[in-house]
Amino acid sequence: MSSIESVLKETRVFAPHDAFKQAATVSGIESYNALCQAAEQDYNGFWAQLAQSEINWHTPFSQTLDESQAPFYRWFADGTLNASYNCIDRHLATRGNKIALIFEADDGIVTNLTYKALHQRVCRFANALKKQGVGLGDRVIIYLPMSIEAIVAMQACARIGAIHSVVFGGFSAKSLHERIVDVGAKLVITADEGVRGGKSVSLKSAVDEALQMAECEAVEQVIVYQRTGGKIAWNANKDHWWHELEAAESDYCEPTWVNAEHPLFILYTSGSTGTPKGVQHSTGGYLLGAIMSMKWVFDHKATDIFWCTADVGWITGHSYVAYGPLALGGTQVVFEGVPTWPDAGRFWQMIERHKVSIFYTAPTAIRSLIKLGGDLPKQYDLSSLRLLGTVGEPINPEAWMWYHKVVGKERCPIADTWWQTETGSHMIAPLPGAIAAKPGSCTRPLPGIMVDIVHEDGSPVTDTGGGLLVVKKPWPSMIRNIWNNPERFKKAYFPEELNGYYLAGDSAHRDDDGYFWIMGRIDDVLNVSGHRLGTMEIESALVANPLVAEAAIVGKPHDIKGESIVAYVVLKGQRLEGEEAKLVAAQLRDWVGKEIGPIAKPDEIRFGENLPKTRSGKIMRRLLRSLAKGEEITSDISTLDNPAILEQLKQPAA
Ligand code: WT7
Repeated sequence: MSSIESVLKETRVFAPHDAFKQAATVSGIESYNALCQAAEQDYNGFWAQLAQSEINWHTPFSQTLDESQAPFYRWFADGTLNASYNCIDRHLATRGNKIALIFEADDGIVTNLTYKALHQRVCRFANALKKQGVGLGDRVIIYLPMSIEAIVAMQACARIGAIHSVVFGGFSAKSLHERIVDVGAKLVITADEGVRGGKSVSLKSAVDEALQMAECEAVEQVIVYQRTGGKIAWNANKDHWWHELEAAESDYCEPTWVNAEHPLFILYTSGSTGTPKGVQHSTGGYLLGAIMSMKWVFDHKATDIFWCTADVGWITGHSYVAYGPLALGGTQVVFEGVPTWPDAGRFWQMIERHKVSIFYTAPTAIRSLIKLGGDLPKQYDLSSLRLLGTVGEPINPEAWMWYHKVVGKERCPIADTWWQTETGSHMIAPLPGAIAAKPGSCTRPLPGIMVDIVHEDGSPVTDTGGGLLVVKKPWPSMIRNIWNNPERFKKAYFPEELNGYYLAGDSAHRDDDGYFWIMGRIDDVLNVSGHRLGTMEIESALVANPLVAEAAIVGKPHDIKGESIVAYVVLKGQRLEGEEAKLVAAQLRDWVGKEIGPIAKPDEIRFGENLPKTRSGKIMRRLLRSLAKGEEITSDISTLDNPAILEQLKQPAA
C-alpha cells in the first residue's frame, strides 16, 4: 500500500510561555497525558463523568454509550435536558447581569445584551413560535444575517424542542429551496435585509422566491425580523413581523425537556458528490463537545472576551457562537459586517474596542488581511489578546508566522483546530497550555478523541507516511445521521473496509512527535508519476514565495504522469499578463522545485486577481479542475463569491 507522500517540512516549534501555561485549565503536557490516559482506561467513564459535571440534566442518564445500532451511536440516551436552559437559565442566579453578547453592527453601533435580557428575548420568541404552531421535533429554517436575533432564534427553537436548520444568508433562493424541501420545514425565520460592508442584501425576497417553487407547501408561516426597513413583498396569509409577535408574549417559557439524542439541529454541508447532506446533531453529546472544547482548546475563563468571527450559517457559528460560549456563561463579540469594511483594519479595531482576549478566525481571512494591510494591526492596541485560533483549512506556515508575530505579538498561543461539520466540535487541536505549536499542524487530538491514520484497507499507517484520517471510536458530539438518508450516512462515513472507523475524508500524516498534519481532502489528492501529493503542501510552498498572496492546486489528467499540476496563483501586486506573466511563472515553478522537489513543480500556472471561493471562503477546487481541463462550467455557481474571475483563470500564463 503506497502512502501519501509528505513533502512539507516544518521544524519550528512554539511552546506556550510560562505565564500562559501556569494559568491554563490544562497546564503542562503531563496534565494532557493524564486526561488522555483516563480516556484510554475507561472511555465511557471518562465521558460520563464530564457529562455529569458539565451539563445540567433534568433527569440523569443511566447508560453512557449505546452501540447496539452502530454506526447510529447513542450517547446519554435516557437522560433529559434542554440546551437553552444550559446556555442561559443556569447562569441567571450567579451572573444574570453579565453581558452575554456584545453585538457590533456593520455601521459600528454596539448593542450589549445581558444573560437576563437574552433569557427574556429567547422566552418571548419561543412563546411566539409555539403560538405559530411550532412544537417538539418540528423543523424551522433560519435564514438570517449575523444578529442577536439569529442567536435568539436558534436558542428559542432549542428551548421548545424544535429542530433548527440555519441556512447561510449568502446562499441563493435555489439552495435555500433545496434545504427547505429536504428538511421538511414548517416555518422560516428571515429578515427583510441584511447589511454587510455598507450595502444591504435582500433576504426576504429569496425566501419568497424559494417558497414559490414546488414542494414548499409544508411551510405555513414566515417570521420577518425588520433589520433595515427596506421595501419587501408581504403575504398576509403567511408573513409576520418578528417584533409584533415578540411584543405580544410573556417573559417566561418553560423549557421543553428533551431526550439527549433529540436532534438539536440539522446543518447542510456539501459532499464531494450529490446534493448537500443534512448533518444531524444531538442535544446532549453535542453540547458536551462544545463545552469541553471551549474549556480545553480555548482555555476559556469567566473573564474572557471571546470572539469567533464565523457566521451562524456554518458549524463554527453553531458550536462557538450560538452554543459553546453561552453554555459556559461567557461574554462574546458577535459581528454583523465584513473584515475588510470600512477597511482591512476592522478586526483589529474591534479587538481593541471590545478588549477581545480570545480571537478565532479562518486562514482565508488572515491571508486576505495580510494582502490588504499586513501592517494595519500595528495601529491598534491588541494587548488584550491572550489566545488565537484558526479553523477551516490548513494554515500555511507563512500566514501562521504573521498571525503569531503581528497579531499575537509572539505572546499568544495559536490553536489550529481541525474538525468538521460532522464532528460537531474540535477533534485535533492543541490544548494551548500543554502542547507546543508547530506552524501548519493542528497538533494532537483532544482527550477522548481516538484519531488515527490508516491505509485504504483500514490497516494502520505505522510510520510518518500519509493516509486516511479516521476516528476509531464514537465520540459524544459526532454526527448522528444524514437527515432522511441513513444509507448515505453509512456509506459516506462508515465504509465497510474501515473496520467501523469514522472516515473524515481528509488525508493526513503524523510526525515523530505524534503531531497531525492535514494534507487536504481525499479527493484533492494528486497522483503525479506514481507519487501521491497533497495539494495543500504545494499551495503552501507557493504562498511562501514573497510574490504570492494565495494559490490553489488541482490535478489535470496527463498521459504519462497520471496527473499534471495546475496552479492558480494570486499575486500580492497586480495580476500579470504576457511576457511578465511568463517570467514570473517560470520563477515560481523553480521556486516550488526548490521548496519541495521537481515532482511538485506546477506544469501550468494561471494568474487571477482572486480565486473562486464559496461564501464561506473555501476554494472551489472542483470548478478549478474543470477550468484546468478546458471544460465549460455548467455546474451551479450561485454560491460563488466572485464569479467574474473565472474568465481570467481560463488562460495559462505559461
Ligand atoms: C473540512 C471540514 C470545522 C469548521 C469549518 C469547516 C478542513 C477544517 C481544518 C484545519 C486543516 C481543516 C478539513 C475538514 N479543515 N479545519 N484546522 N486544518 N483542515 O467545516 O465545512 O465541515 O469542513 O475543513 O478538510 O475535513 P466543514
